[in-house]
Amino acid sequence: MWPAFLVGVGAAFLLQGCLGSSSSTHSLRYFYTGVSEPGQGLPWFIRVGYVDDQLFVHYDSNTRRAQPRVPWIKKVEKDDAQYWDRQSQILQAWEQTFRVNVENVRNFYNQSKGFHTVQRMCGCELRGDGTKGGYSQYGYDGRDYLAFDKETLTWTAADVSAQNTKRKWVADRADNQYRKYYLEEICIEYLRRFLDYGNETLLRTERPVVKVTSQAEHDSMETLVCRAHGFYPKAIETTWRRDGEVMEHKTFRRDVAPNSDGTYHAWLSIKVDPKDRDLYRCHVEHDSLLEPLDVAWEETGASNLGLIVGCVVGAAFALLVAGILGIYFYKKRQGGYKAASTKDQNSDSSGSNPAI
Ligand SMILES: *[C@@H]1O[C@H](CO)[C@@H](O)[C@H](O)[C@H]1NC(C)=O
Ligand SMILES: *[C@@H]1O[C@H](CO)[C@@H](O)[C@H](O)[C@H]1NC(C)=O
Repeated sequence: MWPAFLVGVGAAFLLQGCLGSSSSTHSLRYFYTGVSEPGQGLPWFIRVGYVDDQLFVHYDSNTRRAQPRVPWIKKVEKDDAQYWDRQSQILQAWEQTFRVNVENVRNFYNQSKGFHTVQRMCGCELRGDGTKGGYSQYGYDGRDYLAFDKETLTWTAADVSAQNTKRKWVADRADNQYRKYYLEEICIEYLRRFLDYGNETLLRTERPVVKVTSQAEHDSMETLVCRAHGFYPKAIETTWRRDGEVMEHKTFRRDVAPNSDGTYHAWLSIKVDPKDRDLYRCHVEHDSLLEPLDVAWEETGASNLGLIVGCVVGAAFALLVAGILGIYFYKKRQGGYKAASTKDQNSDSSGSNPAI
């Protein structure tokens, strides 16, 4: 359930999964990671922020500065000249907290040495229907540790060790109230502001190009492959239909994956009897389309070179990001926020951030 970690050469940061967002749903998410044994270019503390699928801010214990990762976030300086300085200070405090966190949790589990990670995910979501979501949670070594429940203002401990932290944190009602307020108000306010700054990329829509190809199989059957390419946002509905009937149980689908240019591609196949081939349609629904697309196989001989190049470039890009971060986050839509008491409203938590 938690971001899994691969450290060292070849570590990869998987963009899909972690970063998915449905068409009219938008999210602001922060990921904190503290490790017990840094090395191989991996700093011992990293904090990254995303709006939807865009990494927009990065902090680590090497630079000790919050730094912009997309052009649009620089607009924040016009509204708030001290933004980067204040974020850096807040994150320097979190860095110290995470030093203690790693130490404390390791002791709770009676572990003396070795590589261990403490992670925190927090964020909020604004859905198309106007509803909101917020979460804050911690993980240890890739497993759940502690999660905040903002409705009841309590924490859920995953095991006996996490009870140690829970006992500490449940007691401070004011802190928990602030966490809830952060998730429901401040975070959403910042999400709206960031969507406004980044509207040219975050609110754009790009139409998928859909192609159906076929491959012969040994058993005189054939496989129809549908590729939808170059769309944004990531959320897309794709199905194979035979005479209008959805053939979900026979469909084989890959995860929607990113291209290097910030768009996405989707892939799904189905095994069919060649004589029934003309009954099949690849059905695609996406925000950019007024009407769904229904695409049949066509004998073209058109090559898929463009797509292949796009995928290769996309994979290279993912590896590059991987090399930089050396982290492999796993998807989890809901997480948590352990904000802190502060009078100062920040896009990220600030003020007291008690250790685990
Ligand atoms: C750690 O050791 C203490 C003392 O020996 C023991 O009471 C506790 O249950 C241990 N905790 C875990 C998670 O193993
Ligand atoms: C983004 O916002 C600016 C200023 O409000 C507006 O002029 C522009 O049309 C918007 N672009 C998109 C793609 O929404």
